[in-house]
Amino acid sequence: MEILDEMQKVFEEKFGAEKTRAYFSPGRVNLIGEHTDYNGGHVFPCAISLGTYAVVADREDAVSRVYSMNLADKGVIEFPMTGLSYDKAKDWANYFMGVVDVFEKAGHKAGHGFDIVINATLPGGAGLSSSASIEVLMALVLNEAFDFGLSMIDMVKLAQKAENAFVGVNCGIMDQFAVGMGKKDHAILLDCNTLDYRYSKIALKDASIVITNTNKPHSLGSSAYNVRRAQCEHALNQLREVKPELRALGELSNEAYNKIAGHITEQLERQRARHAVFENNRALEAVAALEKDDVETFGKLMNESHFSLRDDYDVTGVELDTLAEIAWSVPGVIGSRMTGAGFGGCTVSLVKNDAIAVFKKEVAEKYTARIGYAPSFYVASIADGTHRI
Ligand code: GLA
Repeated sequence: MEILDEMQKVFEEKFGAEKTRAYFSPGRVNLIGEHTDYNGGHVFPCAISLGTYAVVADREDAVSRVYSMNLADKGVIEFPMTGLSYDKAKDWANYFMGVVDVFEKAGHKAGHGFDIVINATLPGGAGLSSSASIEVLMALVLNEAFDFGLSMIDMVKLAQKAENAFVGVNCGIMDQFAVGMGKKDHAILLDCNTLDYRYSKIALKDASIVITNTNKPHSLGSSAYNVRRAQCEHALNQLREVKPELRALGELSNEAYNKIAGHITEQLERQRARHAVFENNRALEAVAALEKDDVETFGKLMNESHFSLRDDYDVTGVELDTLAEIAWSVPGVIGSRMTGAGFGGCTVSLVKNDAIAVFKKEVAEKYTARIGYAPSFYVASIADGTHRI
């Protein structure tokens, strides 16, 4: 593979000639079911062929050195394999360090460090889970090197913990799950309340999944994300006063929610909870439609997901709204919505193959005219989860 040959050269320049092995860890795009994972609802993501490649060698001592070809200006970053805590100066290496740390705390202590070169074909910080891609990658490197015998789901959970406890983003499990458990040509219907999941074949006859990146400079998404999460938790606690057995918003039908919504005192929190409940049910309805080959209904529900994320959850912003609005106006677009946490990042659109060229042209022109800089496009193919190459 050309990319690995180039990486091997860089590896030798940075670390010398050692015996290396290679890995790939995908990014993910969520088709529907947004901001439902931490509300005990369903998500429907897939792993994509854009991701992170790694070339890895064992070291004898308890230090790791990591280098990203995408962030060459950060140089080689070094960290010990024990007693770690978040260190801003170590920048992106915190995602590796976080995984090492949660593994250690779970009793899976690394016996030595690694030299690692990574090269991502995935844009960073664009809502396509570049961080989960790196975290699950590190989990697999550790699991293989030290024969910890962890299943991919165990690794996924530890990778999420690294993001929550070490990096400090209170994310749900969707990203790490999609990255680790992805399957070529399939999306994953995951119940985040129980972690029950199944694969659903995505066989779009004459359409493709097109990801459009707002290219919005990195926003302060993580604090707003944590606020949404806290609002939903507070709303859930208020609903429990009348429905003590309720474990998560994802357990409610729309009707059941409407009956008890009045017990949430804050209007804003009622909106947040309504999104969580309706989006979960919408995701289930959408998957059922897709499995009956009713792509049109799936697309319509994608659009409704965007409305709800815009109006009730307030996580879209002018860039994502502009992308979605332009997409909706292009003939041949079956559906379009923001994907991931929001506040910037990407939209996901289902576009008829013969309309993709016009779609790109229209969206690029109108978005650039309104926002002042251009979007980027990726026609996604659905890939396998994190693996050794
Ligand atoms: C981010 C988080 C996920 C999920 C999405 C929104 O990607 O990491 O856990 O909550 O936002 O659906």
